[in-house]
Amino acid sequence: MVKIRSALPVDAQEISKVESEAHPQEVAATLEDFREYLSDPQKRQTILVAENDGIVAGFLGYTIQEKYRVYIWDIAVRQNQRSRGIATNLLTALITKAAAQGMRSVFLKVSDENIPAHRLYGRFNFVLKDQLKDYYGHSRDAFVLELIL
Ligand SMILES: CC(C)(COP(=O)(O)OP(=O)(O)OC[C@H]1O[C@@H](n2cnc3c(N)ncnc32)[C@H](O)[C@@H]1OP(=O)(O)O)[C@@H](O)C(=O)NCCC(=O)NCCS
Repeated sequence: MVKIRSALPVDAQEISKVESEAHPQEVAATLEDFREYLSDPQKRQTILVAENDGIVAGFLGYTIQEKYRVYIWDIAVRQNQRSRGIATNLLTALITKAAAQGMRSVFLKVSDENIPAHRLYGRFNFVLKDQLKDYYGHSRDAFVLELIL
């Protein structure tokens, strides 16, 4: 049974395990980064976690920009927990919360090569807003996708 909840400082280690399975070391956020985000009294970064049978199976991190725009800076699921709807649950929870708080849009950047992520965002009707050439390195563009709430 998957439960979506706000992350607590005690989740930093488990979240960082998800992160290190999801992204190469040179770009992945570190355990220290997550400890800092989760203990920031101003709560500039918000993290939702998906807990499955007591373990952190995935997370979604976001910030609020320009008052009404939600920027998702990461969404990741442990490799052995993928294709079970966990990212779908995380995104649904975020969109529901953002709409209830009067946010106007949700946006994110995704590599043009990341097929599972494109399938995920496509199902939520995110649309292409911009293309950032070579953002992830030579010939690896980023797409900026946006969902108007
Ligand atoms: C992209 C990522 C977050 C998707 O996570 P996920 O939990 O596997 O995603 P979901 O399970 O919600 O959706 C994936 C598939 O599972 C299917 N699915 C959804 N609910 C399901 C359920 N209850 N049971 C079985 N399958 C289900 C979906 O249909 C989808 O299949 P499709 O893509 O063939 O249509 C994951 O692959 C990941 O962590 N990648 C590395 C990090 C990354 O690239 N993040 C994106 C940065 S922009």
